[in-house]
Amino acid sequence: MNHLALKQEVKKYWNTAACGTEFINLKKFSKEYFEAIEEFRYNTEPEIFAFAQFTRFYGKRILEVGVGAGTDFLQWIRAGALAYGIDLTDEAIAHVQHRLMLYDLEAKEIRIGDAEAVPYEANMFDLVYSWGVIHHSPNTVQALGELIRVAKPGGTIKLMIYNRNSLFALYQYLTHALLKGKPFRSFKKVLYHHQESLGTKAFTFREIKKILATQPVTIKQLTAPATKHDLLYYKAKPFQWFAYAVACIVGWHRCGWFMMIELEKNYK
Ligand SMILES: C[S@@+](CC[C@H](N)C(=O)[O-])C[C@H]1O[C@@H](n2cnc3c(N)ncnc32)[C@H](O)[C@@H]1O
Repeated sequence: MNHLALKQEVKKYWNTAACGTEFINLKKFSKEYFEAIEEFRYNTEPEIFAFAQFTRFYGKRILEVGVGAGTDFLQWIRAGALAYGIDLTDEAIAHVQHRLMLYDLEAKEIRIGDAEAVPYEANMFDLVYSWGVIHHSPNTVQALGELIRVAKPGGTIKLMIYNRNSLFALYQYLTHALLKGKPFRSFKKVLYHHQESLGTKAFTFREIKKILATQPVTIKQLTAPATKHDLLYYKAKPFQWFAYAVACIVGWHRCGWFMMIELEKNYK
């Protein structure tokens, strides 16, 4: 599938339901609806707080790329950041606009925009943040370059992308390849077809380091600790214990589904 057609597929997928809203059966855009989204998100992905460090960006100009339903975006504003946000879809932007109105909060700007062509000038932001987004975009490397371009020299880029060498990726392989009698299907292919929108990618540490070596950045953090998804939080206890033991054996800080990357943009 060509780049444009794949981008349309990605857009269609995330326009059907904004990220993180699919499990919530409450009146759309009501206060209960948004609070259930927020509770579910931070219960299942508690690592976001320690990684994002929302409260360290008071008064700073930040850009979130791929805001989804806007749960993290609200935290930036609550923490006093001057927050700009973009997403590929109308559905995401509508979610954020309703949330801002409901809580009487103000963003500097929230608009449709593509991570592969970020609609801002170079060197504008103290922080560029993107959680779980650019691996869905057909040209992830281009999107990464854009995140870096719009950060100020000395500024920070924090992003999460999926880790192919993770327990969660292994479960996807077992479910969609091995147990279907297709052991030779690669992890890449399984994730491309079965992980959220079509074309989803996941990377290894080595691949990411190689890509980053071509960019004007210094790596401050590159880690992928086991997440609740890797530890099978939705399964019975014996499965969870087994996953926990495997994570300890293979390396707790590198076997997680969320590869969390913090970069500093170089001055030269
Ligand atoms: C898994 S959701 C993550 C949303 C949010 N960051 C979160 O953690 O809940 C992926 C989001 O990325 C957006 N997205 C995908 N490709 C994009 C692109 N090229 N530019 C901007 N947003 C994109 C989708 O519309 C969707 O809202």
